[in-house]
Amino acid sequence: MYMKAAELREKYLAFFEAKGCKRWPSSSLIPDDPSLLLTSAGMVQFKPYFLHQKQIEPQYVGTTTVQKCVRTTDIDIIGTTGRHQSFFEMLGNFSFGKYFKKEMCAWALEFCLDVLQFPLEKLRFTVYLDDDETIGIWKSLGVPDEHITRLGADDNFWRAGPTGPCGPCSEIYYDQGPEVGCGEPDCAPGCDCDRFLEFWNLVFTQYDAQEDGTLAPLPTRNIDTGMGLERAAAILQGVTSNYETDILQDVIAVGERLSGRKYGEDAKVDLSLRIVADHARAITFMIGDGILPSNEGRGYVLRRLLRRAVRHGHLIGIEGAFLKDYIELIVDEMGDIYPEIVENRALIERVVLSEEERFGATIRQGQLFLDEALADLSSGDTLSGHTAFTLHDTYGFPVELTSEICQEQGISVDLDGFEKEMDEQKARARAAATDDAWETGVSIFADIKADHGETEFVGYRYDEVDAEVKAIVKDGESVDRAEAGDTVEVVLDRTPFYAELGGQVGDTGAIVSAAGMSLSVDDTQAPEKGLTVHKGTIAQGSLAVGDEVTATIDHMRRERIRRNHTATHILHWALREVLGDHVKQAGSYVAPDRLRFDFTHFEGLSADQISAVERLANECIMADESVRAYETSLSVAREAGVTALFGEKYGEFVRVVECGSYSKELCGGTHVGRTSEIGFLKILSESSVGANARRIEAVTSFDALSYVNGLIEDLDAIAQVLHVPVKDAVQRVESNAKHIKELEAALKQAEQEAQAGDVEGYLADAIDVGYPLVIADIGTADAGGMRTMWDALAVRMPSPGAAVLAARSDSGAPLLLAAGSKPAVAAGFDAGAVIKQISKAIRGGGGGKPAMAQAGGKDASGIDEALRLARELFEK
Ligand code: SER
Repeated sequence: MYMKAAELREKYLAFFEAKGCKRWPSSSLIPDDPSLLLTSAGMVQFKPYFLHQKQIEPQYVGTTTVQKCVRTTDIDIIGTTGRHQSFFEMLGNFSFGKYFKKEMCAWALEFCLDVLQFPLEKLRFTVYLDDDETIGIWKSLGVPDEHITRLGADDNFWRAGPTGPCGPCSEIYYDQGPEVGCGEPDCAPGCDCDRFLEFWNLVFTQYDAQEDGTLAPLPTRNIDTGMGLERAAAILQGVTSNYETDILQDVIAVGERLSGRKYGEDAKVDLSLRIVADHARAITFMIGDGILPSNEGRGYVLRRLLRRAVRHGHLIGIEGAFLKDYIELIVDEMGDIYPEIVENRALIERVVLSEEERFGATIRQGQLFLDEALADLSSGDTLSGHTAFTLHDTYGFPVELTSEICQEQGISVDLDGFEKEMDEQKARARAAATDDAWETGVSIFADIKADHGETEFVGYRYDEVDAEVKAIVKDGESVDRAEAGDTVEVVLDRTPFYAELGGQVGDTGAIVSAAGMSLSVDDTQAPEKGLTVHKGTIAQGSLAVGDEVTATIDHMRRERIRRNHTATHILHWALREVLGDHVKQAGSYVAPDRLRFDFTHFEGLSADQISAVERLANECIMADESVRAYETSLSVAREAGVTALFGEKYGEFVRVVECGSYSKELCGGTHVGRTSEIGFLKILSESSVGANARRIEAVTSFDALSYVNGLIEDLDAIAQVLHVPVKDAVQRVESNAKHIKELEAALKQAEQEAQAGDVEGYLADAIDVGYPLVIADIGTADAGGMRTMWDALAVRMPSPGAAVLAARSDSGAPLLLAAGSKPAVAAGFDAGAVIKQISKAIRGGGGGKPAMAQAGGKDASGIDEALRLARELFEK
């Protein structure tokens, strides 16, 4: 029975709905699980329910989904087979202790036989080695013994990762017939050939795999099943490749149209058509979920897919940026099931275009560079790691792409050498970024921390505290005492000083003792996690380990830092509101006088977007929201939907900072109590800081006020210079500019008229040497001006003639030019010879052809002599 993929999707969901499962939407491709890069199966979003970390609501103890998935384990073979895809849809149903094997097997068979109308004799079933129970169930349902195969853990024990929910599974295969198989007598499900196609996996999720490899039973016995939508559709449509199903054929057709090639005529073309079709789907959905191309993590997977697609597009002759056509079709065809790609259509198109342009500009040169390197190698050789690195660094070739191209010629790549160069580059970047202001050896602080433990930070609540001196470091050595004039680093048992972290600068202030010691603290750092080190100079008295002191931060400075820190959270929120959820913090700097916020985004912000962000941020400030900070466990924070920073490592306990209902972030910094304390936020600039990363610089409160006042002062000054009130200044500048343009035009006209006058004068003085010859000093001109003068003379001469001209450049250097028309040259005029003869008078040199020659010289006082020599030449 023929069935379209869309129909299969709906039939599956409806079938399990009728069995008591509730529909549940597909989750994002970005899993809420730090151990996974991408969502690669339907069960990923349900892991916490299987593990009983989260309680499933009663109506969802049975659920059914169609889940978008990206699998990256075998990117290399995608396209080479009909079965593998990087992006696919998985039809699933899940039981959290509701139903188990017996029901599941019966329903699976019912769906296959009654809904899909697969003949029973075409179906094969595999079970885990010792799972007699499942074998018994299949047999009781009428499956013949010889259609059941026992397989080992590789095939029939399913795990989502090394740890976590897992269990034995039973897979259902479709026999595509001996003609597509290997023909071996023992060919059966599990064989590498194409005869038996696995299309449905039923996992009996009973265990939680532990770190040590043991299997702890889960509190309930669960079901996790996954049917590959495209594979099942291929069977239903009587084709042996997923790429020939309706859902992928339409995408392939885009490539056929753009390349003018037909699918099914040439294996190489087919490979490229398949790769671009598959990758275009993955790219569309990944960006639709907020992933942007980058050099790490899931952003790198996206970049690899994108660049591989671009290359294969080029291989089949598609020119320019072409993925837009694919995206359009994919969004049109799949948008009703996955509305996020419709909502983010413009974003997807822009990100892809900018990446295509970026890579498109270097791919050809990169390919040439690689071809040259490959020309010296033959099959079996290895391409150097250095070449692979250059291709990556200069031409943007992901190393996997280089490997793939090399492989096509039987050449391997020295990946160790490549990694070595990458490591060296990273080390260079790290060295360049190291802050050498903090010169003290770090190891001494490790010892201090080992002896005294972490510093208690009381600065969220107090600006001043009494403390005991635990350690003093002077010139990199631990000392017992220090005197006035010494620059020291001091460790206390507790402190209100915030040590630089998370972009927020360290506090400054003072440490004093009752005995009259006073130390001004210029900076606070944490060279060891949790160890606060106050750096400064003792102004008076002496300081000893064990002293009781009072530590006080610069309150006003901290106040400004707090305002700016909360402002970065508000900016982050406002940027996501205006630009979309792909915006993520990439770095920040929070100082008393300004703040900097780096974030992921793929293009510059328009003036409208900047003012929208600024306006939203100020709305949040003026809404006078309360800012709440509290500690909680990481899992509770995640459930509350906090924004965790990508790539940050968080401990079990985290601090959450909430600005009313606006933003909720994990953060250890110091913040205002209410947003209105920030007063006012003003964005100063927006700029690029690398591929897909932008930077906003802003000021708040009094600094914003000073900034705006500064602008007003400038404006006042401008108005004064223009002698108009401020409100008329723009209009005055515009009319002045217009006036200047008119004056320039008038001046030019006057110059041209003057020149024309000169031309007439020079022509009047022309001598007749068989043709008219002008010999003249034309005043100030550069080489170009002299040629223009010759052109002006040439058109006005009564008959074609020649000229020898002298001039001075703006800097006073002498210049000579000789030029002749064709008839003059025919009559013997030789500009090059003339210049050669006369240029010695200006202590210069030069030359040229008979029709045109020029010279520059060092002595302008020789100009008259040069022209006299010229006259003499012709009088002879
Ligand atoms: N988790 C299993 C798989 O991905 C079944 O859904 O194959």
